[in-house]
Amino acid sequence: MAFPTETVYGLGANASDARAAARIFEAKARPSFDPLITHLADVADLEPLVGAVPPAVAALAARFWPGPLTLLVDRPAVIPPIVTSGLATMAVRVPDNAYARRLIAAAGVPVAAPSANRFGQLSPTRAEHVVRGLGGAVDVVLDGGPTRCGIESTIVDARGERPVVLRLGALPVEELEKVTGPVTIRPGSSGQPVAPGALAAHYAPRTPLRLPAAGVAATSGSVPGMLRGYLAFRDRPAGDWTAVEVLSVSGDLTEAAARLFEALHRLDAAGVDEIVAEPVPETGVGRAVNDRLRRAAATWHSAN
Ligand code: TXA
Ligand code: MG
Repeated sequence: MAFPTETVYGLGANASDARAAARIFEAKARPSFDPLITHLADVADLEPLVGAVPPAVAALAARFWPGPLTLLVDRPAVIPPIVTSGLATMAVRVPDNAYARRLIAAAGVPVAAPSANRFGQLSPTRAEHVVRGLGGAVDVVLDGGPTRCGIESTIVDARGERPVVLRLGALPVEELEKVTGPVTIRPGSSGQPVAPGALAAHYAPRTPLRLPAAGVAATSGSVPGMLRGYLAFRDRPAGDWTAVEVLSVSGDLTEAAARLFEALHRLDAAGVDEIVAEPVPETGVGRAVNDRLRRAAATWHSAN
């Protein structure tokens, strides 16, 4: 079933049951090389599941769980390899959402859950998005309203000496570094599917999306014969656009992140030929917002 987390809606199944996990891949049309995140109800559930945890991983879990941080640990034997796509590591987190935690606790098993969308498409931040995107492929959608963060969890491999960020996400790198010291950010777009959420082309609307060329004002909406939508950070753009979404009139990056996918879902439904998306300030969670916009744009560049 699909359920809300504080980041995006997840499509959950029993992580210790290979057949249940296989149904997730089927419902999402997700390639089998893209591993799933295992969700736990409580921080205290980690050690019983995986045994000894590296001290740096335990410290991050203690500080940020429940919350939008996914950590890598060794895959325990009770989790079948399909969940981790055969990797020796397992991605795991405790979501900060009461519905999610009660559901996982009631299930009494670790819950494997990717975002509840078709592979490569926009992540769902509302139950309606799940129904629209996955429809009959999902048995149940638990509606917990719009998600708080609106952008996926930050994925970190903290097993080595210096933590490596595998995917930018809702937990800002600046917050992480307060606990860990300097981290390395691996964009992961270099070919190996370390974290396919980090593939160059991902998180894309159906409508072609592009970022305005640096230094060129995106300004006038009118291109003869073309309907265009605009995704703005805080100020409404000049010109006449068919559809405009403003992420945060007060210029608040947390609000912008929370509204990102929702705004893209709406622009996608507006019947425009193209979406122009303006980057947000490259700081805090703004880095993850820009990361998603670049990847959505890359889908359309690589398609041509
Ligand atoms: O916020 C989130 O993380 C949401 C909610 C539902 O928890 N989940 C989510 O899952 O974004 P998904 O499947 O859309 O993205 C998970 C990413 C994938 O890109 C996957 O490759 C990466 O996590 N991942 C999973 N296991 C991994 C591992 N062992 N090593 C490296 N990356 C891993
Ligand atoms: Mg996803």
